[in-house]
Parts: sequence; structure tokens; C-alpha cells
Amino acid sequence: MNALGASRMDGVQAPIVPIVGDLIRQTPGTISLGQGVVHYGPPLAVVEAVRGALARPSTHEYHDGHGLPLLLDRIKAKLRAENQIDIGAGSRVMVTAGANMAFMHAVLATTQPGDEVILPVPFYFNHEMAVEMAGCRVVRVPTDERFQLRVEAIANAITPRTRMVVTISPNNPSGAVYSEDSLRALGAICRDRGVYHFSDEPYEYFTYGDARHVSPGSFDGAPPYTLSAFSLSKAYGFAGWRIGYVVYPEHLESAMMKSQDTILICPPVASQLAAAAALEVGRAHCEPHVRELAAIREIVLSRLNALAPLAHVPSADGAFYALLRVNTTMDPMVLGERLIREHQVAVIPGPAFGMIEGCVFRVAYGALQKETVAEGIGRLVKGLRAILS
Ligand SMILES: Cc1ncc(COP(=O)(O)O)c(C=O)c1O
Repeated sequence: MNALGASRMDGVQAPIVPIVGDLIRQTPGTISLGQGVVHYGPPLAVVEAVRGALARPSTHEYHDGHGLPLLLDRIKAKLRAENQIDIGAGSRVMVTAGANMAFMHAVLATTQPGDEVILPVPFYFNHEMAVEMAGCRVVRVPTDERFQLRVEAIANAITPRTRMVVTISPNNPSGAVYSEDSLRALGAICRDRGVYHFSDEPYEYFTYGDARHVSPGSFDGAPPYTLSAFSLSKAYGFAGWRIGYVVYPEHLESAMMKSQDTILICPPVASQLAAAAALEVGRAHCEPHVRELAAIREIVLSRLNALAPLAHVPSADGAFYALLRVNTTMDPMVLGERLIREHQVAVIPGPAFGMIEGCVFRVAYGALQKETVAEGIGRLVKGLRAILS
């Protein structure tokens, strides 16, 4: 409730991440395994491109809401080569201020107040918040014990009010990479039941071992019901530039543009020029970092699994997250606070991601150097043993 009355935000769950952030600030020296960001920045060519653009008057003007032609051309080429998504065959693409904005546009473009959006649990908290802000209802469907999709359970949760099913693969917060079979099966269900599939793919390059990322937007017949969101935030160390893009069915063109025009008018031009320079460098920019993360992931998983039977981590083959299941009846918010205050290590409690049963934490290992992650995991292991013994 604000000073002058109720607002739609009253019913929206406040994010837990800032609460953890406050606790970290109150406890100097805390190592944060909470942040969902990478530790590296964009390619140098980005800075050069922006520096060169600053003197041009057009950098400071409004432009087309879809994005600059230069950037759109590079995005389309990337989508064709890497995602097997062909823009033009019933699809459109739009540059957004990150994948979060792409999702908000998609919810506004596809729903009416009171409609339902299915989120497999665990979910990304801003997805839940966006659905609630739009006056819609989140329908939570559990994943299995390895955090893979339960496609049949999703099919059973579809009602006449369901407008969209959301998947994130590789997943935040579980690190799970959904199997191609399950995504194909889900796509077929969405097609047959007349429901959109929103596929959020900001971690497309972050897979380890045999895991492979696949874009559902590439499946035969996908364009009329599939929306695919991508982001430069993680791949290019680009979070502050706020650039993502979304592929959507052409029949949503007018609705998507109304939202874009009202919220953003056009994506920031300097950021788009930066993004065009980043895409010219391409995936090669993040590949060495992904290899480095693979080594860090090994340390994280082996050290955490050594906690068994006190805790264990189901396999996490993507992104830079793992979900730690702790074998206790303790409230994860209380345990999380004690880990910060008594052991100077921060992880994000499961309720942030819709995990209200059991005691689960997201461990993020993308934001720190290897030695710092190792020290943080050491504190986590020691802290859990001390608090729970
Ligand atoms: C699943 C998922 N979607 C979207 C985002 C937001 O990305 P962007 O910075 O492109 O808005 C994140 C960021 O953590 C994420 O994990």
C-alpha cells in the first residue's frame, strides 16, 4: 500500500536478492555466491565502437523501435547460424533493454488480466513478478528431482485461461539444461493446445560436458506459437548496457510494438552500437570464460557433493548456478542469514525461485575468480557443518 492507496504492486512478491544484498553489506568480508552475473566485461571493440559513435548526431536521436538495421542484421545472421532460427519465416525480431524487458513485452502482448502463465519450478523470480504485475496468475508446475521438465504435468496444468508456458534452458537457478526431447514434446503440446511457449535463453553459451543447448524456436512449425529471448548480459559481460532481443510470431507484431513504443520507444542507441560491435566479435569472446567456468563448476560440484548426506547438488550442466538441497527442517531464510552473519558467505534461499518445500539454496559461481569461489565454497561447507551438526 502506498500513501494514497493500494496499487497492483501490493500483490507482487518483493525480490529476495536485495534482502540478501543488505545482509552482505552489514557483514563486511562476505563472499557472495549470490550474484547472477559474470566476472568479465565486454570485448574492447565495444568501447572503440561507442567512442567513435559519440560524435555522430544520430547516436543521440530516436530510432526505429525494432532496433538499428546494423544490429538487427547481425542478430539475424547469428540466429540463423547458431540457433537455426530464420527470421522472415513467420517470425519477427526486436531489440529490447535486456531479456527481462522481452518477457514483460511478451506477457503484455499475449495475455488479458486473469489469464494464467505456467512457470516450471524453480523459476526466475522476475518472471513471476512480471506475470503478477500484468494482473495474471502464475501456475507453478514442479520439475523432477534433477530439475528437468515434467512435460505431462505441464500439459495437465493447461486450462482454458492458460496463455503461455515459460522455459529457461540452461536454467537459472538450477543450472539444468533441458533435453531436446522434452522441449520438442512441450512445443507440440503448446501447438496443439493453442498456448504460447516463451523460451528464455540468456545462458545459451554456458553448457558443460555433453550438455547441448537447443532453441525451441528452431523446431518445425514453431514460429506461430514460440517466443525466444536472448541476452548479451551474460555472454558478453554486458549487463549494464541493457541489450537483449526477442523473436516472436508475426501476428504479435502490433501488440509487441505497442509495448515497446510505450515502455522504451527505442533501445538506447549507444548500447545498440556497442551490441553490434560485440556480436561482430561473437561467441569467441565468451568461450575461454566458459572453459574457465567449467573448471570452477567442477570444484563447486565436487566440494558440495562431498557434504552428503548433509546436502547434495543434482547435476547442473549449464549456466553458472547449482541448487544445493540441504537435509534439514530449518527455514532456508534463517539458515541463509546465519551463513552470512556467522560464516561470511552468501547464497540465495530457494523461496526466491518458488522452492517453498525443503531447504534449498542457489549457488552462483560466475561472478568471482576461481580462488574466491573456492574460498566461498569452503566457508559454505564449513558453515553448513557447523550450523547443522
Ligand atoms: C533466466 C533469466 N532471464 C533473464 C535475465 C535478465 O537478463 P537481462 O539482463 O538480459 O535482462 C536473467 C538474469 O539473470 C535470467 O537469469
